[in-house]
Amino acid sequence: MDVYHLIYFTFISLSSAKMAVKFFGTHLYLFLLILSSYSYQSSAATNYNVLIFGAKGNGVTDSNQAFSKAWAAACGSTEPATIYVPKGRYLLGSMAFKGDCKNSDITIRIDGTLVAPSDYHVLGKSDNWLSFERVSGVSIIGGALDAKGTALWNCKAKGTNCPNGATTLSFTNSNNVKINGLLSLNSQMFHIVINGCQNVHVERIKVVAAGDSPNTDGVHVQLSRNVNIMSSSIKTGDDCISIGPGTKNLWIEHVTCGPGHGISIGSLAKDMDEEGVQNVTVKNTTFIGTQNGLRIKSWARPSKGFVQGIRFLDAVMRNVQNPIIIDQNYCPHNLNCPGQVSGIQINDVTYQNIRGTSATPVAIKLDCSTKYPCKGIRLHNVNLKYLNQLAQSSCSNVIGKELGMGQPNDCL
Ligand SMILES: *[C@@H]1O[C@H](CO)[C@@H](O)[C@H](O)[C@H]1NC(C)=O
Ligand SMILES: *[C@@H]1O[C@H](CO)[C@@H](O)[C@H](O)[C@H]1NC(C)=O
Repeated sequence: MDVYHLIYFTFISLSSAKMAVKFFGTHLYLFLLILSSYSYQSSAATNYNVLIFGAKGNGVTDSNQAFSKAWAAACGSTEPATIYVPKGRYLLGSMAFKGDCKNSDITIRIDGTLVAPSDYHVLGKSDNWLSFERVSGVSIIGGALDAKGTALWNCKAKGTNCPNGATTLSFTNSNNVKINGLLSLNSQMFHIVINGCQNVHVERIKVVAAGDSPNTDGVHVQLSRNVNIMSSSIKTGDDCISIGPGTKNLWIEHVTCGPGHGISIGSLAKDMDEEGVQNVTVKNTTFIGTQNGLRIKSWARPSKGFVQGIRFLDAVMRNVQNPIIIDQNYCPHNLNCPGQVSGIQINDVTYQNIRGTSATPVAIKLDCSTKYPCKGIRLHNVNLKYLNQLAQSSCSNVIGKELGMGQPNDCL
């Protein structure tokens, strides 16, 4: 190589190195810019304020269309999305939030109150007020749902031609659901229903309805797995939490119930082909003036259903009519079950550290199926008083044992 070529090549390689630095420098900057805006977008999820879609928080303007549009936008977003409901009262009729969304991270953050129409017929003919179907990764944070159920309860009390009424909030065939800090007020029928779902976390909810309101269960769970209900207060007219067929891996902790009918597994054996209830833990619960505390209830009818692996731990009863009850002879009005026995096999149920007061002399009633006696029933440190004396217990068709402090007339 002669000198001329050497200089030439040096020049070429130097200038291409310079260009390379220049190229990467500029593009690195651009690249970082794109990266940062991308991560900015994905951390601060796309926000849809219902006011932008025309919702009015004045309590009188129907906001159904606005909420539908906000849901369509959030559901159609390929990125995590938040629907925001600011303070105010939003009038909403029956609404379905349908799934198969483009993302699986939708938060509905509510600072306001959703109110049902005053005329109970409007919701009354639907099964649900707000229903979520086939959704994945939906969280409802905060907010109040005022279903205005009182007028319908009054209608039902008079026994005139009344509609059934709507469940306030339902999740069906959905996964990874969170409900946190929600208040449900005066539902027409059940307050919250979890049906056919997996991985549901309910926390810090408040349910309020009159103690004599009909069928206003607080939370109803069925055909669902891995559901947690934590740190909540439920005052209502029917079951605090009702647990239907096909419930598996349910964890209830730190819940206060009352007024109402307490926490109930059942009613089961309504149908012949029914899935079992298994692995339920009910822990650190308080019952105040409820009809029942911890109940398992089945119709006196044949069924393939069962109850297996239930732990009732650390409960306080205050003036509860039936603190501990298994009733396998449920047959209201003696219709469709006289002379039949329950097909539900109840097995492996622990009552541990249950204390407080009963409103009736018999605090423990275990009335099991003659054909399938209850098995593996354990009472461990159960200490219930009636008028300052140890309360009584009664058992039929039960196999099990008592440990620690038990009842005076040990019926196991
Ligand atoms: C029972 O359910 C709990 C959640 O409630 C879960 O952690 C546990 O693994 C389940 N046990 C079995 C045997 O499936
Ligand atoms: C629930 O747990 C809390 C904190 O551990 C305790 O103070 C309270 O007495 C418990 N309540 C019941 C009903 O066991």
